[in-house]
Amino acid sequence: QTKAVTVDEGFVNTGSTTSDITFLDGEKGVLRYRGYAIEDLAAHCDFVEVAYLLIYGELPKLEDLESFRHNLRQHTMLHEDITKFYDGFQHDAHPMAILSSVVMALSTFYNDSLGFDDPKDIDRCVMRLMAKVPTIASYAHKKSIGQPMVYPKNSLGYCENFLHMMFSVPAEEYEIDPVHAEALNLLLIVHADHEQNCSTSTVRMVGSSDANLFASISAGICALWGPLHGGANEACVSMLERIREDGGNVAKYVEMAKKKDSGFRLMGFGHRVYKNYDPRAKIIKAACDRLLQSQQIHDPIFHIAQELEQVALTDDYFIERKLYPNVDFYSGVIYRALGIPVEMFTVLFAMGRLPGWIAHWIEMRNSPGKRINRPRQVYTGPTKRPLTPIEQR
Ligand code: SDX
Repeated sequence: QTKAVTVDEGFVNTGSTTSDITFLDGEKGVLRYRGYAIEDLAAHCDFVEVAYLLIYGELPKLEDLESFRHNLRQHTMLHEDITKFYDGFQHDAHPMAILSSVVMALSTFYNDSLGFDDPKDIDRCVMRLMAKVPTIASYAHKKSIGQPMVYPKNSLGYCENFLHMMFSVPAEEYEIDPVHAEALNLLLIVHADHEQNCSTSTVRMVGSSDANLFASISAGICALWGPLHGGANEACVSMLERIREDGGNVAKYVEMAKKKDSGFRLMGFGHRVYKNYDPRAKIIKAACDRLLQSQQIHDPIFHIAQELEQVALTDDYFIERKLYPNVDFYSGVIYRALGIPVEMFTVLFAMGRLPGWIAHWIEMRNSPGKRINRPRQVYTGPTKRPLTPIEQR
């Protein structure tokens, strides 16, 4: 007799696994990667260092970090045949669709190391994914604006190289603004992992069938795309633009968000785990303020976001439901200040989340208790009934 099945829709209170990677305290608004506070990592580390921490479990010594950086630089280019996939996409193909497709296509180039029987094969694939995703992402942007893809430059850092590939054109020199690279570095760090969120659980789900790392990451990218998850950063900026075009009438939209039947939600607000201010939103909001000040940018949607936050945080509907700004609320304002087009916002979320996905996939594959994920259900369909021949239907 199998045990009675209890359904926990959306896994609100169901743990899927144990993990050593990330700790969240939703009540206190605490986030730590491998025991280190997100505030410390965002203030003092660089993204490649944090990626190393998440994937290998310890902060790297200087020589480890340098060799990790060196390895990444050796794999930033795409095989020229991979770039042919871009010819098949429409110019306005969503870059998340391109990212997921081309990451999947990478697996056709490394099928000698997809079994992962040997840890060095895992490292091969980790390097290639970490090194090539920024190239794949920037090529999607270049495709959408009809500009030539820009090859990576091994003399540049991870964030600098991405900005170079995104914004350089063959016709003239592109000066990388260190303030932009620093803001991108901070954004990638605060997006790097977040325990068993929808896309990370997807990566673990797909990987639990012994599917390869590329297939699992490609599935995670698709899960992240949804506007309730990583797609909220794109949806949030569109919402702020809509409010701006509507005369900045913030109160009207806060009222609308409180009505279930309006079908309208404040994107970038609320969280399954944080019932306090998302610590990442605090870090991003402060970075946003610094960047806009230092660059003398006046972006009206930043002020609308701040006003929206003020109105919502003093409204009983949001207070009762403990709804606060989450990681997606202010990130779009920074992306705009960096000149990143809105359809690329979730791609940048995926670039940040990549080391977290990889770390969870490796942890799951190495866990002694690993089993294929196969949840049960409570059946609510029709009881047994006789088949009616088609003439009588
Ligand atoms: C991310 O899981 C992670 O860790 C994700 C993430 C990560 O790093 O991986 O943190 C990244 O995905 C952040 C979330 C981005 N999504 C959005 O900003 C979309 C808007 N937010 C909501 O859709 C919602 O808050 C979720 C999806 C984030 C959480 O959904 P839950 O936990 O299922 O909560 P719910 O939808 O059941 O809402 C609880 C109540 C409901 O009201 P009641 O039915 O109790 O009356 O709060 C209301 C909801 O209607 N509510 C909102 C709201 N979010 C929840 N009402 C208005 N606006 C909102 N944004």
